[in-house]
Amino acid sequence: MSDTTQQNPEEQQPQADPVFTLHMAAMREMQEPRDGIAPTPVSYIICCFLALLAGGWYMGYYGGEWTANGLSERPIAGIPPTAPPQDPMVLGKEVFGACIQCHQESGLGVAGTYPPLARSEYVLGDKRRLVAILLKGINGELVVDGKVYNSQMPAWEIREDEEIAAVLTYIRASWGNKADPVPISLVTAVRKETAGKGEWRSAALDEFAATAPAAPAAPATPAATETPAAAPVK
Ligand code: HEC
Repeated sequence: MSDTTQQNPEEQQPQADPVFTLHMAAMREMQEPRDGIAPTPVSYIICCFLALLAGGWYMGYYGGEWTANGLSERPIAGIPPTAPPQDPMVLGKEVFGACIQCHQESGLGVAGTYPPLARSEYVLGDKRRLVAILLKGINGELVVDGKVYNSQMPAWEIREDEEIAAVLTYIRASWGNKADPVPISLVTAVRKETAGKGEWRSAALDEFAATAPAAPAAPATPAATETPAAAPVK
């Protein structure tokens, strides 16, 4: 009876076989885990990359204190100082640490080798000459407080103007020395004036001090421009 309705059972079987469809579904949806290394999903790689990028940006943007500047007591550039401008006497004493090995903490130097800074006419006299000595260093015979020295002091021009002004202000007001402070602007000016010069010899230093605008009692605001091209040298 039922034979008459099913005309061709072989033709329909491939699509309709429940075992076959079940297997197709199982193969499609439940892949067998495979041995060995599976490739990392691209989405995972992108996520890691973005996380690193965001972390790097965050540290770069907010990690200001991790630069060398953050460890410096005196910030170099860019980062504003936490304290107001330093007292030159405080900064000067700090910078003077570099001078102690020769000129001694007492400022008296070492007899016969390192001249004293206390009661020295070079320290107490013309500020412009004093700045020039520090910037360029000095070599050869030099008479300080009546005694002859014949040695060499290195140049200090790698120090900032502020540091040089401060240390000179400090030595002019220590060990009984009483002379007015050295303004930073003077250091800047003398640095320009002596650019390209080598270390001083006593005679060249005297000449330098005599020829140009020496101002032992300079006004509080020294003129910034002196029109140096005005007088042609014969
Ligand atoms: C390596 C040793 C040495 C160091 C460090 C040194 N000086 Fe000198 N300084 C000398 C010598 C030596 C002379 C004399 C040079 C000569 O005989 O021509 C001199 C000369 C001077 C003079 C002129 C002469 C005088 O006694 O007044 C001044 C000012 C001076 N130094 C200041 C300083 C200051 C400030 C520092 C620190 C920033 C310093 N020196 C660091 C060795 C040194």
